[in-house]
This record gives sequence, C-alpha cells and structure tokens, in this order.
Amino acid sequence: MKILAYTMAALLLSLSANSYAASAFAGKYKAAAVCSQCHGIRATSSEAPFPPLAGRDELYLEKALKQYRNKTRRSDVMNNIAAGLSDRDINNIAEYYSRLKP
Ligand code: HEC
Repeated sequence: MKILAYTMAALLLSLSANSYAASAFAGKYKAAAVCSQCHGIRATSSEAPFPPLAGRDELYLEKALKQYRNKTRRSDVMNNIAAGLSDRDINNIAEYYSRLKP
C-alpha cells in the first residue's frame, strides 16, 4: 500500500507540475493533490511519520523543501517529491500552508 501511495503521489505531482501560474490557488491545488495524502491539509496531529504543515512558518517550509530538493536534507519520500517542485511551486505551497489555521 505504501508503494501505491508513493506511485500515486509521483503521478499526481507530474500531472500537476508547472501548469499553473503563481497563486494561492496553485499552492492549494498542489497541496490538495499531492501533499495532503501524507500530511493532511489542516491536520495538526503529529501522526508519525508525517509532520504537520498547516500554520507552520513560511520560510521554514520553503527552506525545508529546498533542502529536500537539493538533498541536503535526506528523506527518500520527500527527496523524490521535492525534486519535481519548481521554486514557484515551493513558494506557492509554503504560502498556502503557512496561512492555514491548523
Ligand atoms: C508519500 C508521503 C508524502 C507526501 C505525498 C508528501 N510528504 Fe512531505 N514528508 C513526508 C515524510 C515521511 C516526511 C518526514 C521526512 C523526514 O524525516 O525528514 C515529510 C516531511 C516534510 C516536511 C518537513 C516538515 C518538518 O517538520 O520539518 C515538509 C516541509 C514537507 N514534508 C512538505 C511536503 C509538501 C509541500 C508536499 C507536497 C508537495 C509533501 N510534503 C508531500 C511524506 C510525504
């Protein structure tokens, strides 16, 4: 089942990659399509192993995603997911999640 979830995530990510202009909607769309499968949308619970994202500091989220993308932060799952994100995706997603009230 885990493999299936990862495959689905990768598929959804590639389908939605780079096709939306910068906007909160784009961040929301991508978060809903991809990230929420593991992180939830407003989930605050620290349901291991998925850390909550809603209401987190925008710069922290941006930094974490860029570290996953350039692999200075290691996580098999997140390295793969972040590899498909552009700077714009990262900004949109970080803005979206940071504005959510958990
Ligand atoms: C297949 C499951 C899965 C998906 C989908 C997923 N993540 Fe993750 N994410 C994880 C796991 C597992 C970790 C913890 C990795 C670690 O130990 O660093 C994590 C960690 C993170 C962190 C670090 C949080 C912290 O507290 O430092 C951020 C930020 C993050 N993910 C953002 C995202 C975003 C944005 C998306 C959508 C583009 C996404 N994730 C999609 C599984 C997932």
